[in-house]
Amino acid sequence: MRRVFSGVQPSGELHIGNWLGAVQNWVALQDRYDCHYCIVDLHAVTFPYDSTILAERTREMVMSLLACGIDPQRSIVFVQSHVPEHTELQWLLTTVAPLGELERMTQFKDKSQRLESVPAGLFAYPVLQAADILLYRAEAVPVGEDQLQHLELTREVARRWNAQFAGDDPFLPEPQALLTTAKRIVGLDGQAKMSKSLGNTIGLTDPPEDIWGKLRPAVTDPARVTRKDPGTPEVCNIFDLHKHFSSPDTVELVAGNCRSAGWGCLDCKRVLADRISETLTPIRERFTTLRESPAEVDEIIGEGADRAQRLARETLKEVKSRMGFLPRKEG
Ligand code: TYM
Repeated sequence: MRRVFSGVQPSGELHIGNWLGAVQNWVALQDRYDCHYCIVDLHAVTFPYDSTILAERTREMVMSLLACGIDPQRSIVFVQSHVPEHTELQWLLTTVAPLGELERMTQFKDKSQRLESVPAGLFAYPVLQAADILLYRAEAVPVGEDQLQHLELTREVARRWNAQFAGDDPFLPEPQALLTTAKRIVGLDGQAKMSKSLGNTIGLTDPPEDIWGKLRPAVTDPARVTRKDPGTPEVCNIFDLHKHFSSPDTVELVAGNCRSAGWGCLDCKRVLADRISETLTPIRERFTTLRESPAEVDEIIGEGADRAQRLARETLKEVKSRMGFLPRKEG
């Protein structure tokens, strides 16, 4: 089976952008691939964070993934910092990662602009991401569109490392991105990518009243100033969300009523709020149940780390051997 690797930062709760763009696909891929899903806590500490809640957020992220349908019997679910080989491979890969490419990373530029003092870890972030993927020699990486640049860098790092150390037998495969039709979900502001740090999200475990509370003021087609103005569904983010949560019949009904001004934006949002709540309620309920058994969850990720580490060690041993390091004598 081909190998899949993907990761999510425990920097807040999962939102519908993460779910539609990535996690739903992670669940679907479990039947066809050898899947590795990682909570990337070492990435989360490259931006200012609260150390008193990191551990709890990490555990809750695991719970959210399990609640979405990630099955630890079929997939390896683990926490990045539990497998220290990630950081060792990262160091080795920094020796081939091109500085100029790192300087061009848009996420680095965006995030560093928001900081007075930029930590070197934020700059090296994409090399750790490359190490995550290459450590498992994964061939496919299900992500949203915002990660494509990091994935291109991973491919470049693999190419350069292979050229230097692997001769005719490219040991590190160049991974391919797997995108969904929801590769970039726009936030409730109708402008930026849905993102926790922008506060424009709907959380996967939000109860129906919160979903409605967030959708009510959400931005729609700016040309619909009054209730009687006809709208253009194609330019409305609420319509886009309907396409991901409502049946084709409902999507058609929504589009017709928007164009004819049969419905106002609030009518359209009410239907969307119901569809989203209906979809998310089972996830929220499973999450609530899992929250009652943190020890079980810790066991799942303990086992996940053991399984991931076995593979990680093999890759790292081969990488170090090809790079010419003196092996440590066993025993
Ligand atoms: P993160 O934690 O920001 O997001 C997790 C996944 O959700 C996707 N995503 C979205 N998709 C569509 N629309 C949106 N608005 C949206 N917001 C987020 C992301 O593309 C991602 O797939 N650097 C990564 C974590 C990472 C990783 C890796 C990913 C570390 N190592 C190795 C893949 C492979 C990140 O910050 O994702």
